[in-house]
Amino acid sequence: MICRITKRHLYTIIMITTGLLFVACRESGTNKIQEETDQSFQPYFQEQHRPQFHFSPERMWMNDPNGMVYYENEFHLFYQYYPDSTVWGPMHWDHAVSTDLIHWEHLPIALYPDALGYIFSGSAVVDWKNTSEFGAGNDPPLVAIFTYHKIEGERAGDNDFQTQGIAYSNDKGRTWTKYGGNPVIPNPGIKDFRDPKVIGYQPSQKWVMVLTAFDHVRLYNSNNLKDWELVSEFGHDQGSHGGVWECPDLFPLMTDTGEEMWVMIVSLGDGAPNGGSGTQYFVGNFDGKTFTNKNPKEQVLWLDYGRDNYAGVTWSDIPEEDGRRIFLGWMSNWKYAQVVPTDSWRSAMTLPRTLELKNTEAGLRLVTKPVEEIRNILGESVELKPQTLARGEELVIGTSTEIDRCLLELTISTGEAGKFLIEMSNVENQRLLVGYDGRRDEFFIDRTASGKSGFSNEFSGVHTAPRISKSPHINLKLFLDVSSVEVFADQGEVLLTDVFFPDSNYHAIRLISEEGDAEIVKGKLTSIKSIWRED
Ligand code: FRU
Repeated sequence: MICRITKRHLYTIIMITTGLLFVACRESGTNKIQEETDQSFQPYFQEQHRPQFHFSPERMWMNDPNGMVYYENEFHLFYQYYPDSTVWGPMHWDHAVSTDLIHWEHLPIALYPDALGYIFSGSAVVDWKNTSEFGAGNDPPLVAIFTYHKIEGERAGDNDFQTQGIAYSNDKGRTWTKYGGNPVIPNPGIKDFRDPKVIGYQPSQKWVMVLTAFDHVRLYNSNNLKDWELVSEFGHDQGSHGGVWECPDLFPLMTDTGEEMWVMIVSLGDGAPNGGSGTQYFVGNFDGKTFTNKNPKEQVLWLDYGRDNYAGVTWSDIPEEDGRRIFLGWMSNWKYAQVVPTDSWRSAMTLPRTLELKNTEAGLRLVTKPVEEIRNILGESVELKPQTLARGEELVIGTSTEIDRCLLELTISTGEAGKFLIEMSNVENQRLLVGYDGRRDEFFIDRTASGKSGFSNEFSGVHTAPRISKSPHINLKLFLDVSSVEVFADQGEVLLTDVFFPDSNYHAIRLISEEGDAEIVKGKLTSIKSIWRED
């Protein structure tokens, strides 16, 4: 029998060995090692603040999702990774795969830094027609397109240290070979020149690359993924410029009225509506070379109003029969990402979410929903009784140690002067508040008293999002996972994603009517199973 040792097995072996070492040291009285190993000896994925149904690395530093591609029944997720520390450093692409977008298997690191530099963010495609000629046999190669970041150049104050490189795999993404002709796009003298996203454009049968160049995006065409021609620029005077542009994406979407439009996503290093890094998008047309924004150029559309959804892009090569546009973001913010209070790893990804284009009361907007595969881990549900809470009244929705991971669905009707909040709390009386304020017509997450916040003076705060819908029924879908909350309001028209770090996990959820009456039209609390351990 062949015994396959996965990263998870290795991790367990290391942890058990560390545990044994710890016991041995305790007996021989070596206190220093004892303290250090004591902290790291944690059962698998059960450390304090560890998300239970979101993707996070087994250990060490993670940032952007990269190279998301679907091939032969596997969703690949590569990501920015530094294996030697829990803070950012020389970037690698680490790797995980899933067959349902919910359960993930950690795989070995896919791309290591080399003489051309660290491996920064980028994308991957299936080269179905073997245009790159990297294929072996009958199967198409997977091709990864990424940015090389030459640290020596950055340190020397040069402005040409970011270039674009490619690599290929002929074994379903398990091993990668870098192309000998790298870099495939040299630097034109722009310091911030990175994060290539490649798509196939059917009408011209060409590859299209979109990458960010400081304050705009550049679009390229290619026949073979190796030779690229600059065809247009977009964005110098469009949207928000509160920070450097990063991690673009470009894709077509059918609107709810059956019109094909193109969406351009651009992350911004700073200047998001609630501070720090965030993601904007544009809706328009694309002819294979040029993207045209259909909205006024100064208009800014935000993908998520929470502070913790950054550098998100979408999966490539989702089969036509599936037809979804599936997005995943990094659930952190550069303002404090490197100092959040987790010990052995840093950060998690958002839930995978579908993107749709809908004609809303405010115009054509992206609507975001959690992928339906989430049902694979839903547990028991309890329905709330329809009832009205008068001002000051509260309803205990649930109390249990399991409540730190759940889905709460609520439809509430409240007047223009109404304000209600959902309060999640622990024994220390630390509280996370999620709610709607009728006077301001906005949703909010208040994490000012949610737990630890002293690690950064950028962390604490109230994050708000204007409501779009005029419906008297306010609809909220809220996913709570130990240290994160994702709020999908009004069927995904408005989104807020935030992380938080309570001293002990939340164990109680209450609904409080703060102003006016809150009529609970419908409500349901559902438990969610861990994807990392048996419950
Ligand atoms: C975004 C980003 C990218 C870059 C990567 C480096 O978070 O700054 O622009 O490629 O992170 O890790």
